[in-house]
Amino acid sequence: MCGIVGYIGREEAAPILLYGLERLEYRGYDSAGIAVYDKGKLNVAKAVGKLKNLCELTDNGAKVSGCIGIGHTRWATHGQPSTDNSHPHLSGSGKIAIVHNGIVENYMKIREMLLSEGFTFKSETDTEVAVQLIEYYYKGNLLEAVSKAVDKIEGSYAFGVISSDHPDELIAVRKESPLIVAYGETGNFIASDITAVLKYTRNVAYLEDGDIAVVKKDGVKFYNSYLKEIQREKAYIDWDVEDAQREGYQHFMLKEIYEQPKVVKNTLSAHIKDGRIDLSDTLLTPEYCREIKRISIIGCGSAYHVGVVGKYLLEKYTRIPTEAVLASEFRYTDPIIDNHTLVIVISQSGETADTRAALREAKSLGARTLAIVNVVGSSIAKEADSVIYTLAGPEIAVATTKAYSAQLAVMYLITTALSSTLGLISAAEYDEVLAEMLRIPGKIETVLSDREQLQHLASMYFNNSSIFFIGRNLDYAISLEGSLKLKEISYIHSEAYAGGELKHGTISLIEPETLVVAVATCEKLFDKIISNVKEVKAREANVLCITQNKSFNAASAVTDNVFTIPNTHEMLTPSLAAIPLQLFAYYVALDRGCDIDKPRNLAKSVTVE
Ligand code: AGP
Repeated sequence: MCGIVGYIGREEAAPILLYGLERLEYRGYDSAGIAVYDKGKLNVAKAVGKLKNLCELTDNGAKVSGCIGIGHTRWATHGQPSTDNSHPHLSGSGKIAIVHNGIVENYMKIREMLLSEGFTFKSETDTEVAVQLIEYYYKGNLLEAVSKAVDKIEGSYAFGVISSDHPDELIAVRKESPLIVAYGETGNFIASDITAVLKYTRNVAYLEDGDIAVVKKDGVKFYNSYLKEIQREKAYIDWDVEDAQREGYQHFMLKEIYEQPKVVKNTLSAHIKDGRIDLSDTLLTPEYCREIKRISIIGCGSAYHVGVVGKYLLEKYTRIPTEAVLASEFRYTDPIIDNHTLVIVISQSGETADTRAALREAKSLGARTLAIVNVVGSSIAKEADSVIYTLAGPEIAVATTKAYSAQLAVMYLITTALSSTLGLISAAEYDEVLAEMLRIPGKIETVLSDREQLQHLASMYFNNSSIFFIGRNLDYAISLEGSLKLKEISYIHSEAYAGGELKHGTISLIEPETLVVAVATCEKLFDKIISNVKEVKAREANVLCITQNKSFNAASAVTDNVFTIPNTHEMLTPSLAAIPLQLFAYYVALDRGCDIDKPRNLAKSVTVE
């Protein structure tokens, strides 16, 4: 997720673009740039790192004159944060500039075609391929060239395009990524969201998927993908900046919970090509996969909880001994690691000190290291032998949700690919689980549509002083995450237990009205967890059960409340069962009046030991 902005009018564009980028920096902050037209030429200024570097480079825009320009603040997906990879990108002739928010999924194919046509590339990005494709089609009409190019592009995008041949127009195109046009007094704007323009105007129009807008200083025209002119209604915005950044959601955490379908889709489709899982750009080559004798999955907090899911899945589907280890423990336990050990380190931020140190420890012991990371170019991504990026975009809320779900998706991809390489699942099973994996984003939508039920359940239990989570196998791994989410944002004491462990001590804590959340999505162990439910019901606990649709009746018979998730493949239940636990924690914290996005005593990235 990046931020784009554009302006065409009677004022100097650069300061306006920099103001807009400052407002959009929460969308991505690893590099930024602007391109402004002046006296027949496009002038580009780009800087790696926070926006302030670009402000210093351009003396807050004073060094870049001209009244039409585009700007970008980047969240790297393709190519490390660098000046070459930062936007805007220029076409080979330098006459067309582009900024982009989204992912061009078929960029490699287009790139090969353009290379064969003599085009060259300065960056590793998918976006530069798009501007070169526009140049490929350009025959004097910028709108036509842009339209022909986007016709060939697969993926999600919001593009802002300017050209030195057409200094009186700014072209904007949208498909899946948010994009608005805004009407100002001295000129008009495009932007990823309203925050970038609120200082200048509250009159906007929303582009819809497939729309192309030609923005001029005195007016805006909209076209559909057939270049037929269409109308887009104006809207008046009365939000403040903070609201706008949350796109109307009350908290970033809720916004990020609702971004999960898109995030899981993007993360899966980035590693699935032509109906096959493609991890060929990682160390998981068939030859290496056959050498692996042990797997250690390392992380902290929620990242560790994804590791616990990974342990269950990898052992079941690859029969390779796998452990999930807390990074802060791994680094001081003299671990049994050698060059037949694959060490998978998981981290949203890629900067967590304990995980980074554990990575170094593992490397020093000869292990091959694979990182699952969300922040491109982060330390862990750079130091690991290989990295698989989650495409969750910047995660603002301290309590992780969308990055966690993207990490689960990567764990499914690794498990299925490794199991298939080792010949442990049939082609039919492979196709079945892959098809179901691609249905997960839609099923998460279904779960999200039942949020009111969780809001109601939260209103019943938000005053509880302690809440227990129980589950078996994958459901135990999910219970760990559900309990952590609740603890970190609502400050309610909570524990997660393997269902069979209760009677070995903890059940002494169960008293009348204690809430026990029973995660019972694992079909093979359903009866087992229900017998644990009966144990706590016998002590008059309240039980909220999370289960698949097909087990609704059986669960309702013995529990107080049942929340169902759509039926799915046994490998994939964590992705659906996590959602109601995130929402339950969110609404409990909301009812308790907690600072949900910035919980006390916590930091988004723990860079100290
Ligand atoms: C989770 O909601 C917390 N923010 C925390 O437990 C987090 O998962 C942990 O600090 C690891 O962070 P990382 O994924 O950035 O390494």
